[in-house]
Amino acid sequence: MGKDVIIACDFKGKKEALDFLDLFTEEKPFVKIGMELFYAEGPEIVREIKARGHKIFLDLKLHDIPNTVMKAMKVLSRLDVDMCNLHAGGTVAMMEAAIEGLTREDGTRPMLIAVTQLTSTSEERMKSDLLIDKPLDEVVMHYAECAKKAGLDGVVCSPLEAGKVHEVCGADFCTVTPGVRFADGDIGDQVRVTTPAKANEIGSDYIVVGRPITAAEDPVAAYRRCVAEFVTK
Ligand code: C5P
Repeated sequence: MGKDVIIACDFKGKKEALDFLDLFTEEKPFVKIGMELFYAEGPEIVREIKARGHKIFLDLKLHDIPNTVMKAMKVLSRLDVDMCNLHAGGTVAMMEAAIEGLTREDGTRPMLIAVTQLTSTSEERMKSDLLIDKPLDEVVMHYAECAKKAGLDGVVCSPLEAGKVHEVCGADFCTVTPGVRFADGDIGDQVRVTTPAKANEIGSDYIVVGRPITAAEDPVAAYRRCVAEFVTK
């Protein structure tokens, strides 16, 4: 598993996304395509960015009955993305069906990772709205263990949880972590943030970085700084 920086391409349309990627003349960053861009442009945007040589994390967070997720994953697998995800809350049966759908005839498949509890869900909300009484970190670790049991490759989590996830699920179980900011940067609407260097130290395998790169005056320099702090230290 290679450590890498994934740029969250949170753009409203194809033009904005491709103009941004055109800035990168020397490297081909791993990019995350989320719901906004995917729903605006459809699967063609995935094909187009893939054809330019980028690895793609398609962040659509599937959550439905196992059969529906299995069939949807089959389509994503044909799209040739490198990583995709679902909600662990859909149960182990749903996650197993996802793996089945994602696996191509030759036995290969994109990486599949699970969202545990969204970082926007507080312990109070989990208790009042979802009727889950356990401590949030216990729930996150349990969902991670369920994802592992179903055969998934890892979870999306806070960089601050990455070390614990590795302790519970093993060093090979991948942690993909948003909520990364430069030490001297704006934190924006993220609450629990950490720097690329610290994320590396705690054990993140992939960091997902959006605005610190996309909104930077010099996005290429910001991307290189991220890589230098995260990957090579
Ligand atoms: O701009 P920023 O670096 O905050 O972008 C982080 C990206 O990671 C966004 O695409 C956001 O939706 C995503 N994300 C997150 N927190 C999660 C899950 C996903 O910030 N818990």
